[in-house]
Amino acid sequence: MTIPSSRSDTTGSLRSFRYLTGFSFSRPICETARRCALDVRPGARVLEIGCGSGRNFPSLQRVVGPTGRIYGVDISAGMLARARARCKREGWNNVELTRCDAAEYMPPEPFDGILFGLSYNTMPHHRVVLQHSWNILRPGGRIVIMDGKAPPGRMGQIFLPFGVWLMRHTLLGNPFIKPWKHLADLAQDFAMEEFVFGSWYVCWGSKPKCSAASDIGGAREQLAPE
Ligand SMILES: C[S@@+](CC[C@H](N)C(=O)[O-])C[C@H]1O[C@@H](n2cnc3c(N)ncnc32)[C@H](O)[C@@H]1O
Repeated sequence: MTIPSSRSDTTGSLRSFRYLTGFSFSRPICETARRCALDVRPGARVLEIGCGSGRNFPSLQRVVGPTGRIYGVDISAGMLARARARCKREGWNNVELTRCDAAEYMPPEPFDGILFGLSYNTMPHHRVVLQHSWNILRPGGRIVIMDGKAPPGRMGQIFLPFGVWLMRHTLLGNPFIKPWKHLADLAQDFAMEEFVFGSWYVCWGSKPKCSAASDIGGAREQLAPE
């Protein structure tokens, strides 16, 4: 697949994205997603889809340990250059980075855990990517999605125009998408935690130990309510 130029390099919006996600309240949420919800043991194989500059790698390293492996896939060459520089700086030799569309990623081995950290909503074909991730997850493995969302009720209605504005000006994604519903359709033991009045969430679910392939459909969605 040809990578559309509008999506192939996202480093330009990195500064505003860093500013937003650098708010102190997002840090414990990110940590929950990376460390607790993934629930993997040392030695695990973990994939981050849309790994960006590798901001999540330090906490992933803490859970997989030196015997584990971290795989990162991202469509942006600029982001991956930053991730590579980070790995070099930290002396990590257990990280493998691939530049491609996440829907076409060919894994070298099945994964124990797959993380979407602030990336699911940025992918117009997120359901295709989720189905592909499901297929490359080992039975018993877990998918975790962490992102911002509109808070429920009236606060959400007030927030929505701001969410759309954010999406247009940063790397944050389509605020109309409800990834937790997509994952709940697929996964066993689905669970979700919300933070900061429901404006952030982490959701996760496991693939049954003996699992038949399931299909969640692959519609490419528009920026529209579901
Ligand atoms: C908001 S950034 C999040 C980066 C990182 N996960 C973090 O928490 O800092 C979203 C990332 O998803 C990547 N991305 C968007 N669409 C993609 C696709 N189709 N395949 C792979 N990566 C993609 C972008 O290039 C960007 O690096």
